[in-house]
Amino acid sequence: MPAKVVVVGSLNMDLVTRASRLPRAGETLIGQTFSTVPGGKGANQAVASARLGADVSMIGCVGSDAYGSQLREALLVEGIDCQAVSTVDGSSGVALIVVDDSSQNAIVIVAGSNGELTPASLQAFDAVLQAADVIVCQLEVPMNTVGYALKRGRELGKTVILNPAPASGPLPAEWYASIDYLIPNESEASALSGVTVDSIDAAKVAATQLIQAGAGKVIVTLGAQGALFTDGQRFEHLQAPKVKAVDTTAAGDTFVGGFAAALANGKSEAEAIRFGQVAAALSVTRAGAQPSIPTLHDVQGFVPS
Ligand code: RIB
Repeated sequence: MPAKVVVVGSLNMDLVTRASRLPRAGETLIGQTFSTVPGGKGANQAVASARLGADVSMIGCVGSDAYGSQLREALLVEGIDCQAVSTVDGSSGVALIVVDDSSQNAIVIVAGSNGELTPASLQAFDAVLQAADVIVCQLEVPMNTVGYALKRGRELGKTVILNPAPASGPLPAEWYASIDYLIPNESEASALSGVTVDSIDAAKVAATQLIQAGAGKVIVTLGAQGALFTDGQRFEHLQAPKVKAVDTTAAGDTFVGGFAAALANGKSEAEAIRFGQVAAALSVTRAGAQPSIPTLHDVQGFVPS
């Protein structure tokens, strides 16, 4: 039976335009395409874990608008348990995304119903947390809810993963003792540590600080430069598979969800990181958030170029 991953986090409807480049302040650009795509870092990570071999439950909040039912349905069709996805009055979370010709993006999110996910709502679904092998959190829901989920995960003896995204500054110091795996990208590692992560060496300095703060292990994702792992004793730099990128949206989410699924299913850390890297590499070859996330079959069939 597949292991259980529980994701505590956001669901957003992504409103995506493609344009030749990202707009400058005050500028109006003519876009090429527009689409609405299910996203949100929490939901993307849940979908990734489900497509990549885990049994998944989501804990989150959608709004009473049309997006809310579409976001829930997008998880249900993946076989994700949504008993702990509540519907609250008002708007669902949305993300306004521009993707440019070089596959980079700029994103503005509006929390909407994601802001209604409270520690009390997690307490009401404690049985879901209890059933987890691995608990995965991000930062698109209220900070006190994330703090509660991390602490409760630690109390229950679960493997706890935090993807600190989006990050605008240091994490509360008391969180670190509850985190088994902290998975920031370069900009998040910079925001958390105060070190500008613009090289592998700088990533090592930042990751060391995060270990000293109390995180169990740190994986800094570095986009096309791969990932840097440390447990405080040693560093390992794992190269990313080479692919032609179309859209990097949700690549980090695919890595986190794939890593969580592989780890929950008994893979070693190194195997789980490589598995997440292949999944993330495949995701950037396709457009959109959840539509870009590969299946286990896709990852197993990946042939490096
Ligand atoms: O990580 C990608 C996600 O960030 C998008 O799906 C968007 O919803 C934002 O949350």
